Amino acid sequence: MTSSRRSRAVARFVLAAWGSALLAGAAFAQPIPVDRTLAELGAPLFQRYCASCHGAQGRGDGPAAGSLKTPPADLTRIAARRGGRFPDGEIAQKIDGRFAIGAHGSREMPVWGEVFSQGIPDSGTAESIARGNVAVLVEYLKTLQTDGDRQATRARMAEIFAAMRFLLPLSLDAGKFEDELHRPRIEQALSLLDRSAASLAEHGRAQEVPFAHLSRALSIDARDIHIRYQQGHAREARYLVLTLTETCVACHSRLPAASDAPPSEAFLTEVPARDLRAPQRAKLAYATRQFEDAEALYEAVLADPAVSATDLDLEGHLDDYLELEIRVRQDPARAARTLERFGARSDLPPALRTEVTHWRDALRQLARRGAVDAPLDVARAEVQQAESGRPERNDRESLVEYLDASALLHRSVAVDGASAAQQADAFLLLGVIESRIGRSFWLSQAEAYLETAIRLAPGKPVARNAYGLLEEYLTAGYSGSAGTNLPPDVRQKLELLRGISEGQVPG
Ligand code: HEC
Ligand code: HEC
Repeated sequence: MTSSRRSRAVARFVLAAWGSALLAGAAFAQPIPVDRTLAELGAPLFQRYCASCHGAQGRGDGPAAGSLKTPPADLTRIAARRGGRFPDGEIAQKIDGRFAIGAHGSREMPVWGEVFSQGIPDSGTAESIARGNVAVLVEYLKTLQTDGDRQATRARMAEIFAAMRFLLPLSLDAGKFEDELHRPRIEQALSLLDRSAASLAEHGRAQEVPFAHLSRALSIDARDIHIRYQQGHAREARYLVLTLTETCVACHSRLPAASDAPPSEAFLTEVPARDLRAPQRAKLAYATRQFEDAEALYEAVLADPAVSATDLDLEGHLDDYLELEIRVRQDPARAARTLERFGARSDLPPALRTEVTHWRDALRQLARRGAVDAPLDVARAEVQQAESGRPERNDRESLVEYLDASALLHRSVAVDGASAAQQADAFLLLGVIESRIGRSFWLSQAEAYLETAIRLAPGKPVARNAYGLLEEYLTAGYSGSAGTNLPPDVRQKLELLRGISEGQVPG
């Protein structure tokens, strides 16, 4: 068998394996099981006894909420606050209140176990009514859990992953991607990608703005790739599939990996090493959330003497690695050790050597810092420090500080109970950071962050600052040798946001 026929046979075998995974889909976590009958009995009790404080939808915004010292809990996020778990027993006890230690007196919520059993002469009957009411309320609360959002995201992701695990390895090989033999399967995968990205974007609309923005970007690109392929531009489609991993990484690198997320299937092991260079492997692992693999792969890449330090830098592997360690893996000590080894290479140009030294020192400092109590304040100080060093100290030298600040800010906006003013501040800072270190104007996360800051604080100084920066950022982005060329829709959007930032147009 000639080598090309053999590799085609291997490819077919691998394709068959991927094809079946495509149809089977990937596994994702189970939603919280609910007894619908009991939940239906709980619904009217909830409206009668609980809605005054917790709100008709349980979001903690009932008419009586304002007069309480402790704000009533947002009952749609009971599971979200507990990493996806809904502990029946604990919640039943909290509602009942008779068995909680030290709760009497300090507790602002009535002791429902007492309320429900009042005025019933037979103590046995009183007890069963109290317990029964609490049980049906617990069941009803389960139906309110918006953790369904997370389940929905993961379901869409499983489909996107199924499509990408087929498309990505194939797109590394022009011959295969453009081969008619693979057309039906590629068409099937691109159409799955298109549909699931569209549905992710649809459901992303109701979520926080950066998520909505990135899911929309993914969906627009997935549609574009699909159409180009259908129109016979396989080469362009192939290239765009490869660049799509930037969007996966942009979204996945915002927060530390959830501790209860199942590791995604290690499909990289199925791709023969000779088909995939180590840096590409690292990127794919990152894009598909195999964070530990990605970490090890990047470290191997940075230590590889066959690739020059300059190329490693230009190809963005240092940035990817630092972002992964600081934001997702949260292991600055490990990153400092890696840079120590990288800095000892003899082929670093002077500018890169200076940067690497800055990064290593900053990472060591992060490793010494303990837990952060006030992430927003720490991040603000870090950004101010980096900004005040400009322009003598260039933005890349401050990369570690900017990345750390962005990690803290992403966490501070994800926290329950952050006020609109705090969120606006955080998004303004995220916008500043992204405009300094963002690597893709085209994904324009800076734009999404700054727009969010403006909309969260209409008429306030934060919004005006954010607007100023946004205008500067977009003007620079659309300027070329031919001068500034803001497209009409961008100009219109800016006009609207300026109105909001000045408090003249409602947000
Ligand atoms: C008078 C206002 C008020 C009413 C009415 C009220 N609650 Fe609460 N509830 C609170 C407050 C305040 C808290 C948060 C702190 C605390 O425990 O005092 C709370 C907390 C809770 C929690 C804890 C959430 C968690 O994640 O730990 C649950 C569960 C709960 N309420 C359920 C109910 C149910 C069910 C009802 C109706 C039977 C109800 N509440 C009626 C004020 C109220
Ligand atoms: C708009 C944000 C966003 C984009 C863009 C995005 N993802 Fe995700 N992805 C998520 C979130 C959120 C999760 C779920 C994390 C969790 O809850 O554990 C996830 C989870 C995953 C998982 C794990 C699935 C599971 O069962 O837990 C894989 C694999 C994945 N994404 C692949 C991709 C690939 C490949 C791309 C690019 C084509 C991509 N994602 C683009 C947000 C995104």
